[in-house]
Parts: sequence; structure tokens; C-alpha cells
Amino acid sequence: MLRESVRSAWCETWFRAKHYIKPVWLKDNRLVHSGKKIISFVMCKGGVGKTTTALLLAKRFRQVGKKVLVIDADPQGNLTASFSLPRINVLVNDKTPVLSDIIARKCPLHDAIIHVGKGLDLIPSTGMNSLLDRRLEQVPDPIFEMKRILSLVRSDYHYVIIDVAPALNLVNASIIYASELVILPVTLDEYSRQGLMQTLSEIEDLQSRFNFKNEVRILVNMYSQNKLSLLYLGLVVETMTDKVLRSAIRYSLQIKNMISTQTDLLSQRQSMAKLDYSQLANEVITLTGPNIEAPCG
Ligand SMILES: Nc1ncnc2c1ncn2[C@@H]1O[C@H](COP(=O)(O)OP(=O)(O)OP(=O)(O)O)[C@@H](O)[C@H]1O
Ligand SMILES: [Mg+2]
Repeated sequence: MLRESVRSAWCETWFRAKHYIKPVWLKDNRLVHSGKKIISFVMCKGGVGKTTTALLLAKRFRQVGKKVLVIDADPQGNLTASFSLPRINVLVNDKTPVLSDIIARKCPLHDAIIHVGKGLDLIPSTGMNSLLDRRLEQVPDPIFEMKRILSLVRSDYHYVIIDVAPALNLVNASIIYASELVILPVTLDEYSRQGLMQTLSEIEDLQSRFNFKNEVRILVNMYSQNKLSLLYLGLVVETMTDKVLRSAIRYSLQIKNMISTQTDLLSQRQSMAKLDYSQLANEVITLTGPNIEAPCG
């Protein structure tokens, strides 16, 4: 009897979870005309897809005519490398100005921007960004520093997308403070769920200590409909329904291999990744508002 009722509770959770993620392509009617444009991808757990999602969302925004600045704030420099232009490897070396140089006032922000494609700029990262926290500790108001820096480029772009290292450190706190939308990518497993709870509690703590409110959303990445994934999806959706984005990115070998194979997934006529990222971009555009303010350059 008990087994039966446990089983039916599980089934119910799966059922709800399965139907929570909207099949692609459904339009979300919410419209928030708030013009949020600073978006960061944050999660203290590694390997959940922060960099991949930051990259593909930026590329999708560019495809639909948005002008985007991407900032790599992770000393691993994966986002920088993933632009996979042979040109980038030439341009980026230990002397290339990165975020930590901007914070240390060694380089003006605009000098660190590299143009990587039509409508797409990048502030790259190198190992020098491992000094980010130490540099921040030396400025007068570390938490407000990223907001100050980003105010210098805010009107030049429709969106500024920031990829961070898997950590809860000072620089990520400053980036969270500066972000109008914080996206927390999660995969559907136990470690990722724990990372999500930790990251969310850190964000709530920051919000209350520094008295600010920004949009925080959870993005399910590497989604697949196996039983365990659906169970974890159920747990996440049940406890944080209003925070979970309706778009999910499905597990795709094409995404997994896109850097090694140098495939531009979003330029293909039809791919699962393109479908998922189009849906995600639409949802984010809806959430952030129309961004009617025209960039000046
Ligand atoms: N939807 C997906 N389907 C399949 N593989 C994916 C998907 N999203 C990301 N990956 C793969 O998962 C791995 C980790 O992704 P990624 O580097 O973006 O994570 P991350 O959160 O930025 O990691 P880190 O915290 O180390 O910076 C990569 O090999 C990437 O190709
Ligand atoms: Mg990364």
C-alpha cells in the first residue's frame, strides 16, 4: 500500500515536471518593459553549462539583431577560447588587458574590448583574472565596482553577458550586484541541486545585506526525460516554481562537441540546439523588456 502511494507520488512529480517544461516554441506572454540588459551566468557548481549558455545566447541575440558585449570573468578563459577564432588565440596572451586590469585601473575599459564579429564584442579572460578578488579588495567599494564599470558601456549595447567562474567569491558577488538578470544554469542531479541551493542562498544574502533586488532565474540545462532527471526537475520546480525558466536546453551531442568540431550550431537550418536557444532568447527578451534604447555605436 505504502509502496503504491510512494510510486504514485513519484509519478505525479514526474508528470508535473514533464509538463512544466513547455514544449519548445510556446510563446510566453509576459512582457516586462524594464529594459534589463546586464545578464550574468552564475553557479558555484562547475560544468553545468554557464559558459556554453552564455556563448550561445550571445550568438542568438546577435542573430536577431542585438548588439552584445560578452565579458569573460573566469580565469579558465573557456568563453574566450570558445569563440574559436584562430585570430583570438593570436590576440589573447598574458599581456592582453582583462577585467582584473580594468579593476586595478591599469587599463581603460574600452581598451579591453575586442571586436569578435558583427554586433559582438568581447572582454577576454586570461589567467591574470585569478587576481580579480585581490584587485577588488583594493578598491574603495568592491561590491559596487562592477556596476560602476558596466555603467561605462551600458548604453553601447542591447545586452552585456557575463560568464563567471564556479565560485562564490568577491568578484562574483560584485557581478551579481551589477546584474539585472542572474541566470543559474542547473543540470538535473544531486550535486547540481546542492550547488543551486547554495548559490541561491548566497544571492539572497547579498540582496538583503546590500538592499537590492534583481531578477534571478534557473535554467535547466542538458535536459533529458529519464526518470531521475525528471525527479530532480520535479524537486526544483516544486520548491522554486516562479524562478524556473520555461525554456530548457536539451542534452545534445552537437552542443557537447561544438567547440572541438568548430560547428556554428545556430547557423544550421535546423538543429535541436538552435530551437532551444531561440526559445531561450525569446523568453529572456520578454523577461528583460524590449530594450528600446538604441545603442550608440
Ligand atoms: N545542452 C548541453 N548538451 C550537451 N553538453 C553540454 C550542454 N551544455 C553544456 N554541455 C557541455 O558540458 C560541459 C560543461 O559546460 P560548460 O563549460 O559550459 O560549463 P561551465 O558551467 O561553464 O563549467 P565551469 O564551471 O568549469 O566554467 C562542456 O563539455 C559542454 O560542451
Ligand atoms: Mg565556464
